[in-house]
Amino acid sequence: MAKRKRRQPKPLFDVVASDPPVRPGLVSPMRAVPGSIERPPYVANGGDPGLSASSPVRTADEIERMRTAGSVAAEILLEVGAAVAPGVSTEKLDIVAHEAYISRGAYPSPLGYKGYPKSVCTSVNEVICHGIPDSRQLQDGDIVNIDVTAYIGGVHGDTSITFLVGDVDDASRHLVVETKRALDLAIAEVRPGAPFNAIGRAIENHATRNGLSVVRDFIGHGVGTEFHTSLQIPHYYVRRFDLVMEEGMSFTIEPMLNLGRWELGEIWDDDWTAVTADGCRSAQFEHTMVVTPDGVEILTVTEAGESAHDRYAEALA
Ligand code: MF3
Ligand code: CO
Ligand code: CO
Repeated sequence: MAKRKRRQPKPLFDVVASDPPVRPGLVSPMRAVPGSIERPPYVANGGDPGLSASSPVRTADEIERMRTAGSVAAEILLEVGAAVAPGVSTEKLDIVAHEAYISRGAYPSPLGYKGYPKSVCTSVNEVICHGIPDSRQLQDGDIVNIDVTAYIGGVHGDTSITFLVGDVDDASRHLVVETKRALDLAIAEVRPGAPFNAIGRAIENHATRNGLSVVRDFIGHGVGTEFHTSLQIPHYYVRRFDLVMEEGMSFTIEPMLNLGRWELGEIWDDDWTAVTADGCRSAQFEHTMVVTPDGVEILTVTEAGESAHDRYAEALA
């Protein structure tokens, strides 16, 4: 099927397909969660969340609970990040995360969501998102996004960063650094009265200036009592998407930027793993936030205000 032509940014680096390509490993059976931990409603419904019914705006009580869910997700991402190293399998990262959710009384939102089999997503190199943890060991020079979503107190906190594994080439470091900056620039656009398309404009402008392309097939989303609400947050500029932000709206911004072309390749046979069409690498950073009276509050930080985004930024600079 013909796809609409988009302007491709001029690469600043000699961009080549990741070599060797990431291949599927073995996926272990689903892990158990103690019955004492509250499940999101889709778990009892065979993983089907149904049509989104929740408001885009959270109550004060929901926002307070989202602070807890967000800080739990931030803590888990920090803990899993400490385990990232050459030779560690993505399965091992899932185990670390799984235990971290349970020890905090949280349910791993991905586990059983639309049939997803694991507690985090681990997306290596040219995998854009939704990589399933498996037996593949991280290699020196890989990049890996780990996406954590915690359900606790009836609400979700959704956050991810891309980690560097050992000694990473300059083009990949550039990709990771500028994807984090794109998220930061987008968050700076969030305030009551701002149009939602300011988010995608900030990200697309930053990506283009840095020779990177923006993934169009996956977008940010409203989040709260539901994992994904009907509120859509594209990471590219859409002129007609001028819905205005209101105090109390809660959503994610989670740009995926590519070193090569923006297009999505074929989804793997596991029905989840999304790779770039050209095999070049892709990075992603995500926060959950809420619109405040005078701007934005990032919810996926620890009680001390820390996040993996900042903790691991030092390694990037
Ligand atoms: N956390 C992802 C997001 O940012 C969603 C993952 S869905 C899953 O929206 F089923 F793959 F976990
Ligand atoms: Co998300
Ligand atoms: Co996520």
